[in-house]
Amino acid sequence: MSVRILGTSPLVGPALTNLGARFPELLLAPFRSAEWNAALRETEVLVALVSESITEADLDAAPRLKALGTYSVGMNHLPLQACQARGITVVNTPGVLTDATADLALALLLALTRRVAEGEALVRSGQWKGWAPDQLLGTGLAGKTCGILGSGPIGLAFARRTWALGMVPVFWDREGQGGDVDFGPGRAPRMILSDLLRRSAVVSLHCPLTDQTRGLLDRAALELLPPGAVIINTARGGILDEHAAIDLLQADRLGGVGLDVYEGEPEVDPRWREAPRSVLLPHLGSATLETRAAMAGLLCKGLAAALG
Ligand code: DGY
Repeated sequence: MSVRILGTSPLVGPALTNLGARFPELLLAPFRSAEWNAALRETEVLVALVSESITEADLDAAPRLKALGTYSVGMNHLPLQACQARGITVVNTPGVLTDATADLALALLLALTRRVAEGEALVRSGQWKGWAPDQLLGTGLAGKTCGILGSGPIGLAFARRTWALGMVPVFWDREGQGGDVDFGPGRAPRMILSDLLRRSAVVSLHCPLTDQTRGLLDRAALELLPPGAVIINTARGGILDEHAAIDLLQADRLGGVGLDVYEGEPEVDPRWREAPRSVLLPHLGSATLETRAAMAGLLCKGLAAALG
């Protein structure tokens, strides 16, 4: 069977190449290049990266499209309803990036609270004069409450990590209020957002970007946090009001912000470059060799299944 598979770049590991060999042909062309646009007409399987927003107009331009795959678990960049209406199978990569993303959220949390970037810069600068009682003091985490927004697999995995640090996880999720969330080694209460924010020393975002979560942590919500609270976002830009977060950092109201994702990325609000107590990463949540290879394997397996 010959199937036109269109993507924009090789994926990690052999899975996409193997898919292309099994259902020739595989065409890789830069996103929205003339070649990519022209190829859409014959495309039956479209492979998108998390940075490539696919629109309903793209579906119009691809009348033979059977499956749309994304090399991500998040699907906020895909026209899901239009795909459903047209019977186009959508394939993503749930499960395999859970630990990698939770690990990166933890890395951001520890980097912020233990001032890792500042310490590293001090040593590299050659200006370090030696150990001092009050040098680069951070803040401890044991015994503090960690508010986790989202009780999906990544939120649960992050809860396990905070629990291992001696923190007390609490959850907000789409279920709303009431009941416990079982995160493995323990159970944690599910609460309304305002209650969670008022008591959390750390808030970490692990929910998808949807109409319900867009702007969830707006200025009013951020102002409910206790002074010195830390925010970690490895989920999606647009859930956190970055402008308000920078203002509150500059006003010494927030203790730190660690970001792996940004509204409008790869554009980053230039104010972040000067923002105090912030650690900024370039969307690395799933970026381990093992995870990216597993994502490619899962995606291509799903696409092959969709082709029958
Ligand atoms: C995802 O999978 O949604 C991440 O943001 C990219 O790996």
